Amino acid sequence: MDPVNIAIRDPPHKRVPCLPDHPLPNAGIRHQTPPKSLNRDKKNSFVALHSLSISTTQLSIIMSEEYLFSPDLISPNVKANLPKGYTCRPLSNKDYGRGFLDVLKVLTTVGDISEKMYLARFNWMKARNDSYYLLVIVDQNDRIVGSGTLLIERKFIHETASTGHIEDIAVAKDQQGKKLGLRIIEALDYVCEKQGAYKNTLVCKDHNIPFYEKCGFKRGQNEMTRYYKL
Ligand SMILES: CC(C)(COP(=O)(O)OP(=O)(O)OC[C@H]1O[C@@H](n2cnc3c(N)ncnc32)[C@H](O)[C@@H]1OP(=O)(O)O)[C@@H](O)C(=O)NCCC(=O)NCCS
Repeated sequence: MDPVNIAIRDPPHKRVPCLPDHPLPNAGIRHQTPPKSLNRDKKNSFVALHSLSISTTQLSIIMSEEYLFSPDLISPNVKANLPKGYTCRPLSNKDYGRGFLDVLKVLTTVGDISEKMYLARFNWMKARNDSYYLLVIVDQNDRIVGSGTLLIERKFIHETASTGHIEDIAVAKDQQGKKLGLRIIEALDYVCEKQGAYKNTLVCKDHNIPFYEKCGFKRGQNEMTRYYKL
């Protein structure tokens, strides 16, 4: 599709540059006229570069699907035990439009995250994909209905051992009680063990203790927290 037409249809705030590290000011906003200070060659490059501006919707259509980590790390048992039509897989660069952030809203405030912000965070994690393991459960309509995170920390102690930290376990409200939470924990545990960690820990509210006990976790030590002003 002609990028100019795309730009005409989509308002400037919805456009993002194709190039990830766009060197020009106000990246993503089409300038009708290049700055006067540029010489002729640079003006031409400026126009060419800005004509590459496309909408975030278009960007997700043309992007090929990429997973945060290898799908081979998803437990075959977990996949076999999901409800019919559901699957479990690593988070993908295309999950913004599949309700991933809506699922996280059952946990806490998510805020206003654009697709550009989603992709920036996804790519940051993907560059560290031996440490960040976010996986999702998808229903038969390709909607994300559950997700969980495993962070693998490398230590010096225990002869440079690794340990897992489970975070952000969430199941969509209308999907709770179908053992999806249990499958997410089993899937994260599988990754943790496969990656050679010697333990896996998590922090939870009192009312979720019975859930994690059913997932095989035991009460450990106390949690201590300090919050910082953002
Ligand atoms: C907690 C949560 C992840 C559980 O997911 P779920 O898919 O509803 O739970 P499951 O169906 O997998 O439950 C597995 C077992 O735990 C039990 N269980 C689940 N939540 C429970 C709770 N809060 N208290 C007691 N038992 C619970 C289920 O009854 C089931 O038991 P069973 O095997 O005897 O039938 C889900 O309710 C959720 O997303 N809650 C909001 C977000 C949240 O609190 N996340 C955890 C942050 S630490």
